[in-house]
Amino acid sequence: MSNITIEAKKISGQITPPADKSISHRAVIIASIASGKTQIKNLSSCEDCLRTIDAFKNMGIAVTKSGEFSYIEGRGLIGLHKPKGKLYLGNSGTSMRLLLGILAAQRFSSELEGDASLSKRPMKRVIEPLSLMGAEIKGRQGNEFAPLTVRGRTLKPISYEMPIASAQVKSAILLAGLYAEGITKVIESAKSRDHTERMLKKFGADISPEGLSVSVSGRADLIAKDVDIPGDASGASFFLVAACISKGSRVSIKSVGLNPTRTAFLNVLQKMGASIRWNYENDKAASGDYSQELKGEITAKYSSLKAFTIGSDEIPSLIDELPILMVAATQAEGESIIAGADELRVKETDRINSMISNLTRMKADIESRGNDIIIRGPSKLSGSIVESFGDHRTAMCMAVAALCASGRTTIKNTDCVFTSYPNFFEELSKL
Ligand code: S3P
Repeated sequence: MSNITIEAKKISGQITPPADKSISHRAVIIASIASGKTQIKNLSSCEDCLRTIDAFKNMGIAVTKSGEFSYIEGRGLIGLHKPKGKLYLGNSGTSMRLLLGILAAQRFSSELEGDASLSKRPMKRVIEPLSLMGAEIKGRQGNEFAPLTVRGRTLKPISYEMPIASAQVKSAILLAGLYAEGITKVIESAKSRDHTERMLKKFGADISPEGLSVSVSGRADLIAKDVDIPGDASGASFFLVAACISKGSRVSIKSVGLNPTRTAFLNVLQKMGASIRWNYENDKAASGDYSQELKGEITAKYSSLKAFTIGSDEIPSLIDELPILMVAATQAEGESIIAGADELRVKETDRINSMISNLTRMKADIESRGNDIIIRGPSKLSGSIVESFGDHRTAMCMAVAALCASGRTTIKNTDCVFTSYPNFFEELSKL
């Protein structure tokens, strides 16, 4: 396990972030159950996405790569083979939860397992709605935790009001809905990322998103399509905040995803007074073709920041950027509040604890009251020894905090960045 030491420095230059992790998972999953050969430009090779690719290879799907293109030979809705042995999904919650939606409807049984962190993450939120559709899924401790056993069944459509706004749960139900005769409807309490909806539309599914609800018709064939995956906006967020808080910095990020369900953090940074701008590259998407993912360029430079308040209804649209916004808040004038961040407790680690523990060691003024987080700034951060807690986003956040801290900061166990951003530290040194 590697440790990395970082000293305060300004950053400047241009990067292209790795391919979007969420969209890459969807591309592999949907291409595998479509008919025909899908060409994917810029498929992520982060560890989480490799787990999804390996799972489909194990179920008989041919995946090949040539230069920047990957090719997936889809076998249609019911063409997957029973996997050999257990499907190992490592650290990847997206792989496990989305796969459940597909495996629940196959003509074979399967077993899913993950690493120590994934084995502690809640699965009942997916198993419950899928069970209403007729799925048979069993897990540890009252079906809450992996390893999971899935017996393929004939599914029926449901209309489901989700108690938690989660793109992973919504996606699992929509994917299962592809196998159910009739219309499956999901209603969210707040809008979560809509990559599954866009990708399904692209592959010809009869899918209708309307405000907070989305319906899909089952049993229709999906047809292979060419896919181009934009850069990961969540990966980009670390460099954007780094530019905003470390004096004299300026970065520009090319070809990055600008899906409106993922860009709420840009609006927060703008409201904080950050000097940040973004432009859309693909006019077709901007002009309303829902099946396209928007992408463009973002530039940010050092700015004097003021505090923000984020309410619980905004959280699903910036869930993965909350930790880096906590780092930004330590450098902002006033009291920042993130209200009702319960979902951070069940990520790759408890991100409320991981961030408070690390930032407190660096002498930030941060505390939690239940699931609310309060940060008072600006603080002079002090270099320290901090932990990744095995969580890629915590590790990358602490690298950014180190850039504006006095002295040296050592981040322990940084290998976890391979989960989503394999060359994060190389990019940071380049800048
Ligand atoms: C993801 C959805 C989010 C996010 C995760 C990726 C996805 O999780 O935190 O990193 O690709 O659907 P939830 O849907 O559980 O909030």
